[in-house]
Amino acid sequence: MTALKKSFHIKSRDFIRAGEASIQIQALLKTLNFDPKMIRRVSICGYEGEMNVVMHGGDGTLRFEINTNQLIIEITDDGPGIVDIAKAMQAGFSTASDEHRNMGFGAGMGLPNMKKNSDDITVESEKGQGTLVRMVFFLSKGGDAV
Ligand SMILES: Nc1ncnc2c1ncn2[C@@H]1O[C@H](COP(=O)(O)OP(=O)(O)OP(=O)(O)O)[C@@H](O)[C@H]1O
Ligand SMILES: [Mg+2]
Repeated sequence: MTALKKSFHIKSRDFIRAGEASIQIQALLKTLNFDPKMIRRVSICGYEGEMNVVMHGGDGTLRFEINTNQLIIEITDDGPGIVDIAKAMQAGFSTASDEHRNMGFGAGMGLPNMKKNSDDITVESEKGQGTLVRMVFFLSKGGDAV
């Protein structure tokens, strides 16, 4: 199977268009007849990652790839970065502003949910150096959708 690759721009603080990349990926996986459970896991991870860029990050990119064995979502942004990654991964930790909390965000559950719903997650970040979140989903042998 030839790798399928797509890339989406994510604009920092653009709450109107936030989530669009994840919606497009979800639609694409539906047309490719992926297992609904896999679509749900990928959508959760894509959405949470996208929202983090919109809320906490700088402008960024969501790269999506499907190859024979795995599906990969890699989200990078050029924002302020994460000072303490281990802390950020903890359930309930959030630096969300009151404004974000009033919009229903800031439970500190995005990164824990991404970890839970992906088969592998890598977070690379440094203060002032932006953030990279890479999530991998293992596909069954032969690259079929189940
Ligand atoms: N792309 C990013 N750039 C800078 N900081 C980030 C980024 N992503 C996450 N963080 C930091 O990690 C914290 C935890 O993220 P997480 O997604 O778990 O929770 P949240 O976004 O605060 O709340 P929720 O996702 O539940 O609405 C954030 O509050 C923020 O401090
Ligand atoms: Mg979040």
